Amino acid sequence: MSKKLLRVLRGERVDPPPIWLMRQAGRYLPEYRELREQAGDFLSLATIPDLATEVTLQPVRRFMLDAAILFSDILLVPWGPGQRLEYVSGTGPVLSPIRSAADLLRLSPARLSSAIGSVAQTVRRVRGALGNASSDVALIGFAGAPWTVACYMIEGRGSRDFVAPRMMAYRNAALLDGLIGLLTETTISYLTAQADAGAEAIMLFDSWAGLLPPSQFRRYILAPNCSICAAVRQRFPGLPLIGFPRLAGTMLGEYGVATGVDAAGIDTSVSPEVAASLLPSGVAVQGNLDPLAVLVGGEELEAQTRYILTALDNRPHIFNVGHGILPNTPPKHVEELVRIVRQGPSRPFGRDPAGQTAT
Ligand code: CP3
Repeated sequence: MSKKLLRVLRGERVDPPPIWLMRQAGRYLPEYRELREQAGDFLSLATIPDLATEVTLQPVRRFMLDAAILFSDILLVPWGPGQRLEYVSGTGPVLSPIRSAADLLRLSPARLSSAIGSVAQTVRRVRGALGNASSDVALIGFAGAPWTVACYMIEGRGSRDFVAPRMMAYRNAALLDGLIGLLTETTISYLTAQADAGAEAIMLFDSWAGLLPPSQFRRYILAPNCSICAAVRQRFPGLPLIGFPRLAGTMLGEYGVATGVDAAGIDTSVSPEVAASLLPSGVAVQGNLDPLAVLVGGEELEAQTRYILTALDNRPHIFNVGHGILPNTPPKHVEELVRIVRQGPSRPFGRDPAGQTAT
């Protein structure tokens, strides 16, 4: 019998739905903090295959989740070709910003191959470890989508509004087109290597898709996501693809139709029923519990979780959070969440926490 997550990605409804969580590996786990300290810096943790394999497996072992997600980061794609990158505690990623054609020319995409090599090695080791346990756990590989990676490359750090890349879309579209084109090509190689090494599904994170107006959304989100999905499909026809155009609002429907993804991740702001109605019926919905509800725990966690289970009961659904697990989340609450999801949706309680019954 094939793995639950893969069945849902083929369009099957599975009850209870499979569950995994964005940022399931990370600082909220003491065993992660311990290895992170041993490694010294985040990039070593992400690029030394033995360490990255162990961190990938930590949450799967602890919570018996239905999927492992490769432990890596979307910013290895600019770091590999030579953009300076540092993860500063309390600030997040800091990069040497790309603001001109000369900055872009200094990157050498051929140098990405060593980062790709270490990530492929991690994928092989995780598959080996999961295979030995003859488990039902699927391994998800991933990359950032070009616009989201470009946001960090251009801004040079995390931001709430990423003004520099958005300005570039108006004032120097040729440069942004060049960068998006380069990222599209390198992302295809990066994902192809993960699939070759044994990733069983691929997720494309477009975390900042929601910053763009519709015409730019089509140019910088739809077009590159479509090219990547088409290229990966051509090489790996059966490999399921999950797209996550975060905060895309009503553009979610266009995204689902144009890219042909097998599942769409939805963020916390989207009503699950509306997401389901915007997407083609065979497309699975992945999401979308508020990470803050996991941090808070208790009755709120239970009510929010049951609401989502009920709202997506008649649909291929992968249970997940709407954005990454927060660093202060008590691991006990994740345990509790998994328990609630495994009880399934067909219990009382299918109420929107604000009082509106799910349909
Ligand atoms: O468990 C998993 O989800 C797999 C590993 C994973 C990480 N980052 C590890 C990580 C994945 C899938 C990502 C994706 C990622 N990285 C995204 C897309 C998803 C999203 O969150 O919107 C983005 C935008 C990034 C870029 C990035 N990396 C930021 C903004 C930060 C700093 C924020 C923070 O939490 O500190 C990182 C660092 C990072 N990536 C950490 C982890 C576990 C924390 C690093 C640490 O140990 O200090």
